[in-house]
Amino acid sequence: MITNDQLVYDTDPMIREISQDVPLPLSDEDRQLGLDMLEYLKMSQDEELSEKYDIRPGVGLAAVQVGQLKRMCAIYIPDEPDEDGNVDHIDQWVLVNPKIIGYTPKVSYLRNGEGCLSVPEDRKGIVPRHAKVTLTGYDILTDSDVRIVARGFTAICLQHELDHFDGVLYYDHFNQEDPNRPIPGAMVIE
Ligand code: CO
Repeated sequence: MITNDQLVYDTDPMIREISQDVPLPLSDEDRQLGLDMLEYLKMSQDEELSEKYDIRPGVGLAAVQVGQLKRMCAIYIPDEPDEDGNVDHIDQWVLVNPKIIGYTPKVSYLRNGEGCLSVPEDRKGIVPRHAKVTLTGYDILTDSDVRIVARGFTAICLQHELDHFDGVLYYDHFNQEDPNRPIPGAMVIE
């Protein structure tokens, strides 16, 4: 289980380091790391467990954020529950060596800005992202090579996590003069 004392924050120079490709076939250790990362995200979204372990809610986590310079990330994005509390679909992967192989020129961003488990003090600003991305990689959850076409919120989360592999944080993308300057023609995601 991953605990908060393993988290690497943006005050630590390690967060700026470049992560390395993970050898395939996966070692048991790397597989476990990926699954632990996913579990941490699930706990972070569970009311009781997040309180018990004092975890901020998160939808994505890259290995460098838990002190491992490996190109691995977990994503856990459930749909909004319906009236009965049922969740129709969950975008979830534990990706090894994912790469963006295509994207649309259209820009999108989250109206309320992005957050990051490695950035304890929220910094608000517009983070321009590709509105749609295509990725390839190896997914631990299905034990297979995958090709993911993502749009909207999920596309943004994937780009955020892949940035971590190269030591990039979301606020690096802010317009440095005016972080909240709207981007003409961009798709704004609520
Ligand atoms: Co982050």
